[in-house]
Amino acid sequence: MKRTIALSMTLALFAPIAAEAAQGNVRRGRAIAKEYCSMCHAIGKTGASPKDGTIPFRDLHTRYPIDNLDEALGEGLVINHPDMPEITLTVPQIYDFKAFVRSLSK
Ligand code: HEC
Repeated sequence: MKRTIALSMTLALFAPIAAEAAQGNVRRGRAIAKEYCSMCHAIGKTGASPKDGTIPFRDLHTRYPIDNLDEALGEGLVINHPDMPEITLTVPQIYDFKAFVRSLSK
């Protein structure tokens, strides 16, 4: 019982921080895309991808619900990226990236 109370207090303390992180930050997401992805993927609202046949990020939502990108980014990225070194995004980076991708399809 005591433990339950301690746990919910901990959650209450961290919830606002977690919610902020879970929303992601478009500006940081764009910076991630620019640094790690833009040599192949188009990251703007218009324009073709630098690498032929590579999906522009503004079209990603047509392939995946953006919420499901976690899985694609966490696991599928390596499989679907034969031409590039393994990219590992941290969980906050994934939230930022998703916020950025969402902002593109608005
Ligand atoms: C060296 C080139 C290159 C870089 C850098 C690159 N990609 Fe890709 N990406 C590809 C290619 C090639 C494909 C496969 C063709 C396609 O599905 O458009 C792909 C496909 C994808 C897909 C779709 C996978 C699927 O299952 O349909 C996602 C999501 C993706 N990339 C995300 C990223 C993210 C996020 C970054 C940066 C962190 C990134 N890529 C960086 C070349 C690259």
